[in-house]
Amino acid sequence: MFKTDIWSKEQLADKKNQYCQPRTMSEFLEWYKKEENYGLLNECSTQFPVNYNELKDHPLTTDDFTFKKIAVLDLDLTNIVSSLLDEYKDITSNTSKMRPDLVDSPEKYYHRLHGFDRETNTKKITKETHPDVWKLGEYFDLEKYSVATQYQPPGGMSPRHVDFLDSMWIDFANYGFDLMNQPFNTITKSPEGYYAVRMMIALTPWSPGHVFGFEDTYWSDWTPGEVITFDWAHARHYTANLSFNPRLFIKVSGITQDKNHWIFDAINNSTIKQL
Ligand SMILES: [Fe+2]
Repeated sequence: MFKTDIWSKEQLADKKNQYCQPRTMSEFLEWYKKEENYGLLNECSTQFPVNYNELKDHPLTTDDFTFKKIAVLDLDLTNIVSSLLDEYKDITSNTSKMRPDLVDSPEKYYHRLHGFDRETNTKKITKETHPDVWKLGEYFDLEKYSVATQYQPPGGMSPRHVDFLDSMWIDFANYGFDLMNQPFNTITKSPEGYYAVRMMIALTPWSPGHVFGFEDTYWSDWTPGEVITFDWAHARHYTANLSFNPRLFIKVSGITQDKNHWIFDAINNSTIKQL
């Protein structure tokens, strides 16, 4: 049952009606960017838990998908971890406050409005700057992907939200893979015919105080190399670092048109692939 403790049913229904108007990808992203009540838009766009069996043409068959462990990277990650930790060593939750490059983001603005201003540092990874990290995205057999690191220093947090993958779509367009004129599907939050997936690869071990929640369930006890995916579009998720050890993840986001992709199989059948 969908529950919220912030918005009235009428407010949610009204905003959802606006959200469900037919738009192309670029029209949606323009509308999203200008949306003044980002919190309401974020909440009304979730449809957790989605019964994927009822959706025609969707490869998932679950009705309670929050997150799933889908793979383990059988790889020595020591060099990648130590070089990234060294690169981020000066980042603290104090220096994360009010990053000038994020001031325009409606999500960040909304979070700050509610006092959540000690952010998780998300940094884009490119083939040129971090070829070894970029290569990890290849393991997921996606048509196109983007990679970012997520460094959460002690005190860092990311309050409850769902994703829209706006930076991924814009990135793809900038690199010549332009889906901007395709119709935006309000359930998959992707261009019609595409399925977007998002994976988190743990690089540092879980430490008591590392919080990673999806609706009413939590991921914990992770070890380096463990890979999860989650219902980024519908399961409201939230993180905090209440420990004294930094938390480092790699986030791989990408798209496929293949309904038989092994990631869907892993979600539907709870299988774990060795990569
Ligand atoms: Fe998210």
